[in-house]
Parts: sequence; C-alpha cells; structure tokens
Amino acid sequence: MTIESVTAPEESSEEKGLETTLRPQTLPDYIGQDNVKQNLRILITAAKQRSEAIEHVLLHGGPGLGKTTLAHIIAKEMGVNIIITSGPAIERTGDLAAILSNMKANDILFIDEIHRLHKTVEELLYPAMEDYALDIVVGKGPAARTLRIDLPHFTVIGATTRVSLMAAPLLDRFGAHYKLDFYSDDDMIAIVLRSARVLGIEMNTDTAREIAVRSRKTPRIANRLLKRVRDYAQVHHNGTLTADVACSALDLLNVDSLGLNSVDHKLLHCMIEKFKGGPVGVGTLAAATGEEVETIEEIHEPFLMQLGFLMRTPRGRIVTQAAYQHLNIPYTSSQQRSLLE
Ligand code: ADE
Repeated sequence: MTIESVTAPEESSEEKGLETTLRPQTLPDYIGQDNVKQNLRILITAAKQRSEAIEHVLLHGGPGLGKTTLAHIIAKEMGVNIIITSGPAIERTGDLAAILSNMKANDILFIDEIHRLHKTVEELLYPAMEDYALDIVVGKGPAARTLRIDLPHFTVIGATTRVSLMAAPLLDRFGAHYKLDFYSDDDMIAIVLRSARVLGIEMNTDTAREIAVRSRKTPRIANRLLKRVRDYAQVHHNGTLTADVACSALDLLNVDSLGLNSVDHKLLHCMIEKFKGGPVGVGTLAAATGEEVETIEEIHEPFLMQLGFLMRTPRGRIVTQAAYQHLNIPYTSSQQRSLLE
C-alpha cells in the first residue's frame, strides 16, 4: 500500500479480513447514520412480524461509509443468508440466473456497485425483483421462446456510489432508498475507540480524536489509520500510543490536520495557482493535475465540499476563503471580485 492509498476510501484486497473483524454485527453496534438506522429498524421489524422478505433496499453513499456493513447487519437481524456480488462481477445473464435460482425464501442478494451492472443482466433483474420470476430465453431465431421460472421471495440490497448513473426502472424497483452521509467528528471518535477496543489497543479520547479528525469522516479510513498509528507506536515508542504519537505518525503519512492528502493539496493548489481559485471545470482540473475526473468527483470533491473548502457553481468549482486559510495562502480582494464577476 502506498502512502497515498492510506487515505483512499476504497477497500484494498488485504483489508477484507480486517474489515470483517471490525465490522459491527448489529444495528445498536453500528455508530452514526441515525436516521438510516431508525428507518431500517422499522423495515426489519415489520418484515419479521409478517414473516416476509424485506423490501428491496438501495444504499447510496461514498466509498467506505458502511454500505456493505449495513447489508450484513440487515441479513443478520433478519436471520437470513446473504449472497455477496457486484455489478461488474456478473458478466452474463447466465451468471445472474445461476445466483437467483439458488436463492431461498427471504435470502438477501447484495449487489455492490449496482450502477455498473451490464445492461442485459439488469434487464433480467427487473422481473426477478418485481415479480420474483426468471425469464429465460430458450432456443434461437423464430423458435425462441421465453420460459418463466418462479423464484422464492428474496431481497436485493443494492449499493452505489453513483446513484445518478442508475436507470430509472432499476431505481423504481427499490422500495426503500437510504443515503449514507459523512460521519460527524463525535461519531468518528466513537468508531475509533470501538475499533481500538476490538483490536485490543489501549487508547484515550484525545488520541482517538487525533485519528478521527484526520480520517475524512469515513470509518474505513479511520480503521486503516488506526492500524498505521499502532505500527508507528510499536516501532518508535514501545507501543505507547498518545495523541502526540498519533500526530507524528499521521504527519509522516502526509495526512494533514484535517485529513487532506497530497492529492487534495495538489487540486487546491492547482486551482489557486493556475486558475486564481476558480471557477474551473472538472475536466480542466483533471487535465491540469493528471487526476481522473471520476476520482475527483467521487472522492476529493465531496470531502472538500463537506469541509467547506470547495463550492460547485454552474460555471465550475471555486476554492473558498476557508481553504486559503487552511493552506496559509493570502485570500486577496481580487479573488473575492472574481467570484462576484
Ligand atoms: N466500523 C465501520 N463503520 C462503523 C460504524 N458505522 N459503526 C461502528 N463501527 C464501524
């Protein structure tokens, strides 16, 4: 893992085990996202009282905010099996047909990155979700016929970082749609303390806060930084972990006091130095920095906007005064004028 990827919200392959250990198993154990939890509690309780499968659920939110964790919790609370797959992993309609025909009543099919389903696969999913039926074409040419196979009532939990890329007929088939937001500082501190406890790391609140406020409001990043800070304390301080030790470890990883990494810095500096703080279009910014549009839109912009460092206007992105202050760059009146022009 490179220094950069320490603050990448995507899950790395070696993290799958750790994430499973740290993952809360029940709704009360899951910290934050209170509105989503309250709604899910009702959905789960009502379905259980009626002994039915829960409605299809769409979870929408940035990477690392806990969509997969929630899907596992729903399955556990419902006491049903969960089959895990992802949009790009289902290559052919036959792959989806094989998964669906093995499902039992009330089972959950979790489809991560559901906005990346292949079109033909998506079309097979429509009748499966709506009518619990699998429409299979047998034969070719004029002799081709559609064979309808009944499926047990099951639940699709879809997860997406890009709900705007989902087709309306697919969106319509989800009875419940919840958005996960960035976590508050207090929730992040509670998550760091919980993860430390699970991993057997002794930690006070000040140390947890140091890690929490630098974790881009994202639990997956907090858990990753926690491990790096533990390593640093072990190598340099005989395992003693204080807020100062955490601070030095995170500085060494180029994670700044608010969690900005070197790509965030590059983007802001580029906008300020080459484009007078904006407005600048995302395509222009991508070309000028060598970053991908998708990465800027999905990872950097949402976080910088949440901090109030970036604004989106119809004419492009603008760096705010707060960002200049954080970067220690004077905010001149000409910048203010260019915003008003
Ligand atoms: N680990 C990752 N996400 C979490 C959450 N929301 N609550 C508790 N632990 C977590």
